[in-house]
Amino acid sequence: MSHYHIKHLEEYYQVYRKSVRNPEIFWEEIAEEHFLWRKKWDKVLDWNFETPEIKWFEGAQLNITENCIDRHLATRGNKTALLFEPNDPTEAAQHITFQELSERVNKMANVLKAKGVTKGDRVCIYLPMIPELAVSVLACARIGAIHSVVFAGFSANALASRINDSDCKLVVTSDGSFRGEKTIDLKGIVDNALEDCPGIEAVLVVNRIASEVQMKDGMDHWLQPLLDEASAECQAEVMAAEDPLFILYTSGSTGKPKGIVHTTAGYMVYTAYTFKNIFQYRENDVFWCTADIGWITGHSYIVYGPLCNGATTVMFEGVPSYPDYGRFWDIVEKHKVTQFYTAPTAIRALAKEGVAHLQNRDLSSIKVLGSVGEPINEEAWHWYDDNVGKRKAPIVDTWWQTETGGIMISPIPFVTPTKPTYATLPFIGIQPALMDEQGEEIKGNQVDGRLCIKFPWPGMLRTIWRNHERFKDTYFSAYKGMYFTGDGALRDEVGYYRITGRVDDVIIVSGHNLGTAPIEDAINEHPAVSESAIVGFPHDIKGNALYGYVTLKDSGESRDHNNLRKEINQIITEQIGPIAKLEKIQFTNALPKTRSGKIMRRILRKIAQGEFDDLGDTSTLLNPEVVEEISKNAIV
Ligand code: PRX
Repeated sequence: MSHYHIKHLEEYYQVYRKSVRNPEIFWEEIAEEHFLWRKKWDKVLDWNFETPEIKWFEGAQLNITENCIDRHLATRGNKTALLFEPNDPTEAAQHITFQELSERVNKMANVLKAKGVTKGDRVCIYLPMIPELAVSVLACARIGAIHSVVFAGFSANALASRINDSDCKLVVTSDGSFRGEKTIDLKGIVDNALEDCPGIEAVLVVNRIASEVQMKDGMDHWLQPLLDEASAECQAEVMAAEDPLFILYTSGSTGKPKGIVHTTAGYMVYTAYTFKNIFQYRENDVFWCTADIGWITGHSYIVYGPLCNGATTVMFEGVPSYPDYGRFWDIVEKHKVTQFYTAPTAIRALAKEGVAHLQNRDLSSIKVLGSVGEPINEEAWHWYDDNVGKRKAPIVDTWWQTETGGIMISPIPFVTPTKPTYATLPFIGIQPALMDEQGEEIKGNQVDGRLCIKFPWPGMLRTIWRNHERFKDTYFSAYKGMYFTGDGALRDEVGYYRITGRVDDVIIVSGHNLGTAPIEDAINEHPAVSESAIVGFPHDIKGNALYGYVTLKDSGESRDHNNLRKEINQIITEQIGPIAKLEKIQFTNALPKTRSGKIMRRILRKIAQGEFDDLGDTSTLLNPEVVEEISKNAIV
């Protein structure tokens, strides 16, 4: 019997050792016993971190939707698969059973086929958190189309560049979305984006908010009438283990977003196995991950991981503050949520509103709490533990990345003793290493360094879409033979890991990864701007916020600075989306640079954090005098 469900600490250590000594035997057993294959593999693992090439379960054939849906129909056909909670609490929740999900996915798959989508084609999904989003994702997987979900908070520009980078053929969107009291005109954003996307052949539009939208003849189609006519039967396409399942874009420290590619078999095995253990999932649990399916957390722990285990997974359309800050707890009480998985930024925002919102809500169904996306500070950890988990529900602080596909470092609840702010121990099969700046591994405990992973795991990314060189440069060139995460971490006296944050130019704001380069590019498009640099600084709710240093061309100096600030944030909103807006903008005469002309972000970061006494040696700068000017005018 394989260890699909770890139940105590000795078992964790035993299974961990096995997974590291004999990874192939270990993962083969998991794959053998718990999934549906059309054909088994010829080889469990083939890898090389130099080229880099990683293949899991080569030779195997499968369809992930048969694992997420079909194989549950006989035993769980009437069980709720998707539990949809709408934005408006007075609108009825929808309990979509596995049987209904099967029919909806097959119909959607047939609609996609009828529009000419075939295996290997890319489909862009730009939808709010409504059932059609999960259904569209699964429908793509059903027919072997590669989904590229773009978070519906991204701007038209950001959407267009993602559509074009992966040559998507079709877009699935909605007329609009509900967000608290507001509605957002998604179709309008898509219309703008498509002005620059010649490859799109059709747009399928869900009617969600009943708004008036422009429907372009021959291009735009309301989805419902097509679904009404479609058959509820659709043969699953037989996929090879390493066929791409999806592309998901994430920010890089330089250049345009990276299209992270995940493939089929390894991703399935890894998300299902981590889900089962890290949330100690049991039949009849109601699992709620508050992320959006537009991010990896939603892909892995709203859709694929839970459904592969036959779980009921909650999809929430709205926001934590509507109609009031008790909404999350209302939902927990209403649906008797057993695992609740959210981000530190949400916890901090809720903590700020006080405990009154929790007091009359019954949270006793909660067994496990989760945190993801950024380091959780001690105060937020305790607030979560005291008020939500009532010190009975262990908190799993799960560290992972879009690139890793699934959780990598995390406690296993009721198994690993937790420690505030520590993601604790590597998950089964994961071999972390801390590296120093000279490229040597730092062995032993009570050390800190740059976090790398030494050995492949099934859920890891396989490439960056049509840019294998960038894949190699970004993840495999900093430390020979290792996957570099971009994060710093420390290991305490018992071997627990604590993630200290990014060591590159990615800044995590409210749990969202933002690269500095695209934001700077956007700012520099303002006609009055000559140059800019973005750094992060600590923020009570968001974790980090953005501080921009902007130098103006002569023509800009006479202009009203507050207006300029608004205009700059407007450009950022248009180019990227409101999540990338700057909290503070300081206008400067110049930016501190090295003699080779590189902006010294280290100094700018310190100034933004108010650490004026600790700027280090500035004498080697090309223009040391600007540091004083910038410090004097810093916005604190
Ligand atoms: O810096 C780490 C941080 O989020 C980054 C990955 O972001 P993304 O690809 O958007 O995926 C987020 C959801 C998996 C990491 O490099 N991060 C994620 N989880 C944690 C974290 N930092 C500290 N603690 C965590 N639990």
